[in-house]
Amino acid sequence: MPKRTRILAVGTALPDKVLTNHDLEEMVETSDEWIVKRTGIRERRICSYETMMSNSGASELGARASTVAIERAGLSVDDIDGIICATFTPDNFFPSTACSISRLLGRDNVLAFDLSAACAGFVYGCTVANALITTGQCRTILLVGSEIISKSLDWSDRTTCILFGDGAGAVVLQGTDDEERGIIGTHVSSTGSLGDILTLPAWGQKRYMSMNGNEVYKHAVRMMSDATLKCLESCGLSCDDIDLIIPHQANRRIITALARQLGVPIERVVINIERYGNTSSASIPLALDDAWKDGRIREGCRVLFTSLGGGITIGSAMVRF
Ligand SMILES: CC(C)(COP(=O)(O)OP(=O)(O)OC[C@H]1O[C@@H](n2cnc3c(N)ncnc32)[C@H](O)[C@@H]1OP(=O)(O)O)[C@@H](O)C(=O)NCCC(=O)NCCS
Repeated sequence: MPKRTRILAVGTALPDKVLTNHDLEEMVETSDEWIVKRTGIRERRICSYETMMSNSGASELGARASTVAIERAGLSVDDIDGIICATFTPDNFFPSTACSISRLLGRDNVLAFDLSAACAGFVYGCTVANALITTGQCRTILLVGSEIISKSLDWSDRTTCILFGDGAGAVVLQGTDDEERGIIGTHVSSTGSLGDILTLPAWGQKRYMSMNGNEVYKHAVRMMSDATLKCLESCGLSCDDIDLIIPHQANRRIITALARQLGVPIERVVINIERYGNTSSASIPLALDDAWKDGRIREGCRVLFTSLGGGITIGSAMVRF
């Protein structure tokens, strides 16, 4: 059995259309100043109207991100034996988005399923993929976070529609015998009793996201910092051992408060929320891609992923590159 699971490469894909805060000023009663001050977001990517109205989008974006990740890993699609897609905006209940991605990639005979943990989906996915790989059930897994959140928004509700964007990120995970590298530890959990503060019904008339923003904000820093400390404890590490934090990009203020709480200088935190908004399960791989491209992911560096999402779900993962 492999000792650990390594992240070999990341790939991303984004819709071309940019929706700025100024565009939103034309749609709801808001302002660029309010959005930047309260969230840090300046613009986000949004799929086309046709995609928004269709049962497609997440699998196409996910497949594009996957193709980039596989190529950067120096592998071929035939090397992949598992596909996990974290999404709360699947194209269909079935076939799963993961199965549709496998079809678009031209790869049958793989384990493939969607994972529903909202914005904590990527970290939950790391945990599940790590378990599948280190128990020998898969060798190389494509973990995809792909979201067309624009489909789930009430575009007349200024409290939610300004926060989110569409996008996809994928990582290639593979088993290794090198005990020093890879996923060192994870902690995932949930608090179902807080489920009502962030919801998206699957059925009924009002199939839009609704949120008690203040409540989410109140719990976010505490719960992500809690998950991080538990994750670090399981690895026998402390906050001083973190070289880089890649947090879920929900709100710049939440991210800075989290860094302060953990005592990690803000220079060691990857933030790209200004360009993409909250892309849920895609936000960590999108930020990882930025950090990898600008040289912040170096051989041997220890990177902490941390996230919180509807459920409420939380998760942190420590990875050594
Ligand atoms: C949503 C969020 C940005 C709101 O920021 P806030 O500082 O808490 O602002 P409040 O909700 O207290 O609203 C303050 C005022 O701005 C108004 N407001 C709300 N949305 C607005 C918008 N888009 N533009 C302008 N004004 C807005 C409110 O109506 C309120 O007005 P009032 O004082 O007259 O009642 C913030 O609570 C947040 O980010 N929460 C976490 C959300 C999140 O990350 N969810 C996903 C988790 S994965």
